[in-house]
Amino acid sequence: MYLTTAIAYVNGKPHVGHAYELIVADAIARHHRLKGDAVFLSTGTDEHGLKIQKAARALTGNDDLTQLFVDSNALRFVELAELLNVSYDKFIRTTSKEHKNAVRKVWGIFQEKGLLYTSEYRGWYSVTDECLYTDEEVYDNTVSGFIIKCAKATQSVVEPYTEKNTFFKLSAFKDQLLEWYKTNPIFPENRANEIINIVSNDLRDLSVSRANVKWGIPVPDDESQTIYVWIDALTNYLTAIGWPDNPDWVNKWPAIHVIGKDILKFHSIYWPAILLALGLPLPKIVTHGWILDDSGRKQAKSEGNVVDPFEIVETFGIDALRFHLLSNISFGEDGCFGNESLTVSLNTLANNYGNLVNRILTFIHKNFNGYISYRLDKQTEVKYKEIIQAFDEYNFNQGISLAFESIARLNAKFQNAEPWNLIKTDRLGCLLYLQDILSEIIRVTITLQCIIPNATSKILDLLGYPEKYRQYDGDSIQMDDNNPYKGWERNAFERELSKLPKPQIVFRKI
Ligand code: MSP
Repeated sequence: MYLTTAIAYVNGKPHVGHAYELIVADAIARHHRLKGDAVFLSTGTDEHGLKIQKAARALTGNDDLTQLFVDSNALRFVELAELLNVSYDKFIRTTSKEHKNAVRKVWGIFQEKGLLYTSEYRGWYSVTDECLYTDEEVYDNTVSGFIIKCAKATQSVVEPYTEKNTFFKLSAFKDQLLEWYKTNPIFPENRANEIINIVSNDLRDLSVSRANVKWGIPVPDDESQTIYVWIDALTNYLTAIGWPDNPDWVNKWPAIHVIGKDILKFHSIYWPAILLALGLPLPKIVTHGWILDDSGRKQAKSEGNVVDPFEIVETFGIDALRFHLLSNISFGEDGCFGNESLTVSLNTLANNYGNLVNRILTFIHKNFNGYISYRLDKQTEVKYKEIIQAFDEYNFNQGISLAFESIARLNAKFQNAEPWNLIKTDRLGCLLYLQDILSEIIRVTITLQCIIPNATSKILDLLGYPEKYRQYDGDSIQMDDNNPYKGWERNAFERELSKLPKPQIVFRKI
């Protein structure tokens, strides 16, 4: 399985919207690895184009420093992926040599196949969207008494644009694209309607070179123009797996692209047409919604309303951020982001889950000197199968809520058993009760690994549960014949006891 995130523009530093996409893609990747699938996850940065050129010039005043500017911002995205414990296999940068070669190769194939021609484009350009619009696609927006032309689709400001460019015969792919949409390649499916409309009614050829953009990959045979940044950027999905030179790319392609809903047009019209031109199989597209600010606007650098994920992690921790984004947003929809709701999420983790683990482990240490044995059975109270199925369908919030229902039941079970009394009269009975609860905690923790990998790994260590048995197995947890934890034995003292490490607080509260 080849999974990708979009590659982020490096005109500024990452924000929580970028963090969200990384976390979603990582949760999907981890979930599938736990199922035993081979997963290759790529992420990276989109480093060419007018938007970057302008941002670099504004900051440095010197075009020679553009590469330095993108290097330093790209590093921040690498650091973010590391900070969030994103299990990526490749970080692809579009200013890398391997990528530039791949883009030139794509261009060469277009040329060979007669898919390029020269013409003039008259219309409007949005630097924010890196996208050309026609007269019909823009409107007059009145701001403080001034009329400003904006794109209808995104409300971003546009500038007049007249240039002689190279065009790609996008319209030639109309029928193939319409056939492809019938296979439901876009998730959620309701997002496809708008795209099908565009392709059915208004599919024009695409201008794929720019005369006024210096910061880009020069057009082969015409150094006065650079290749349109979206053609450059989309090709990253091929470069990341070694196309065209490393033959191993064949084993990974096609991809599943995790992207925000704002860039669906580029991924579901331009990109498949490029792939059809290259003669390659078409991908699947999974779109998520936006992280909004308090007043319901998309978090974006151009809006000046972004939240710094590094600061959030500093205050709340990685697990709280991951948990919050995946449990509070219904996948595909938009979600608000604020410190108050983040605090509620952290407290849910700490008070329900963290507290359960800590209480039981402290009790075992106090009363059994840290010695416990437990065995796992396929029979379980935890709705294992349902949780895994929810994650299969990207219903993270639903899976998490099922897991936390189990955690609540386990807390109640511990409380109702009153082990602190039971131990005075029935030591063995008390131990069996604790074994039961511990086994269930292991199970629920295994399902939460793709959501909060740091915390769950710590908890499974504290529970003494070996790393090699932390994968899923069908509708239960992995238990091959050698797993000493397989099967349920009521007599705890028949087998060797293991001493658990000293309990530690897993989730700090604020
Ligand atoms: N560079 C292009 C993508 C090229 S992919 C071949 C781009 N960059 S971006 O930095 O603007 O966005 C990168 C990803 O982050 C996109 O999928 C975008 O939808 C997502 N997000 C950016 N802001 C977002 C929010 N506020 N909320 C959620 N995701 C958003 O587009």
